Amino acid sequence: MSNKEITISNEELDQFRTETSGTRHVIHFNNAAASLPPDMVIETVINYLRDEALFGAYEAERKYINQIDHVYELIAKLIGAEKDEVAILENAGTAWGTAFKGLQFKSGDEIITCELEYISNLINLIDIRKAGVKVTVINNDEHGNFPLGQLESTITERTKLIAVTHIPSSGGGMLPIEAIGRIAKQHGILYMVDACQTAGQYPIDVKAIGCNILSANGRKYLRAPRGTVFLFVDKAVQDQIKPLLLDQHAARNVTIDGYTLRPDARRFELYEKSRALTLGLGKAVEYALNIGLDRIWARIHWLAAHTRNELRMIPGITVHDMGDQQCGIITFSADGFDNKELRDALVSHGINVSFGAATATLIYMTNRQLKSLVRISVHYYNTEAEVFKVCQTLRAILGVPADAIVCK
Ligand SMILES: Cc1ncc(COP(=O)(O)O)c(C=O)c1O
Repeated sequence: MSNKEITISNEELDQFRTETSGTRHVIHFNNAAASLPPDMVIETVINYLRDEALFGAYEAERKYINQIDHVYELIAKLIGAEKDEVAILENAGTAWGTAFKGLQFKSGDEIITCELEYISNLINLIDIRKAGVKVTVINNDEHGNFPLGQLESTITERTKLIAVTHIPSSGGGMLPIEAIGRIAKQHGILYMVDACQTAGQYPIDVKAIGCNILSANGRKYLRAPRGTVFLFVDKAVQDQIKPLLLDQHAARNVTIDGYTLRPDARRFELYEKSRALTLGLGKAVEYALNIGLDRIWARIHWLAAHTRNELRMIPGITVHDMGDQQCGIITFSADGFDNKELRDALVSHGINVSFGAATATLIYMTNRQLKSLVRISVHYYNTEAEVFKVCQTLRAILGVPADAIVCK
């Protein structure tokens, strides 16, 4: 694709913002927590709930059964998978945990993870050590890049799993997940990717990544409602993962003597959940696919680089992001300012940013001696004018003249 084709035009940007009522109320730089949804996503959810209220919930489900089923196809299209490799769940903790706990490790097994690993995944990794499983964390190098050579040399014949987070919740760096996938494949090791901050921000192709398991959130860069997550499980490994919970949706041919599992990834779901949210997730995926993930990523990447440059010019601000490849998450702090108070001050000016405590990305932040951060997470629907506004507001809060700049 040429640069011209990859650019989101000003007309399109205006259209996306018109289609997103939230952009008229707030400057939203908290997309890594949850993005502003397009209006049509919310309308989809509300219309379905109205049908449930007017005609009955199970009756509404029958009416929408094809659309609900189509959501699995849309997610499969988004990540280059097959429809029967997709499950829809409520939160990423459950999605990641369902796959991880279902793998059933034994004493002596080894798992390799990365310093950017998300805290709830990390807690499960800490927990599994009680069962005699060795967990090795590979730290990024001093430039914030993942050392692929070290990964190679850490692998032993006992390594059963490589589990990494592609984009951390509080950091601008990214992991080379395709290169890691090639190494996992060479050694025949299961490979699991947390793509919660990736879906909707960066193109995902599970075949190119070479992962067996991938979990991703709807509410973050995909712009779907809260309470929506999907789990990809490669057909080839579905039988290696024991579903933690079973109901009549996951198990079939149930007799008093046994049952058979569904022949697809939906064995990792339970039947009862919100159909309205599933449809909202589908609409959000469709919206992203219509724009194109390459174009979304190109704009986010550009806007994030622009934001980092602008922040670096403000005296007293330190941008902490590291690594050769950086994403839409920008983290910084200001000399002499408490990060929580800085976040609150920006929010009081109608600018949503977030505060990142060391817990969310525990190893990375501990390694870099970062107790907390302020996080600006940009999306394609944010504008340069909004970036200018946040920088001017920061200058006012810090008491820095509007035209004072750090000379490089
Ligand atoms: C990288 C990453 N993984 C997992 C999660 C957890 O998602 P959930 O709150 O849906 O469990 C988050 C949330 O911030 C995240 O940033």
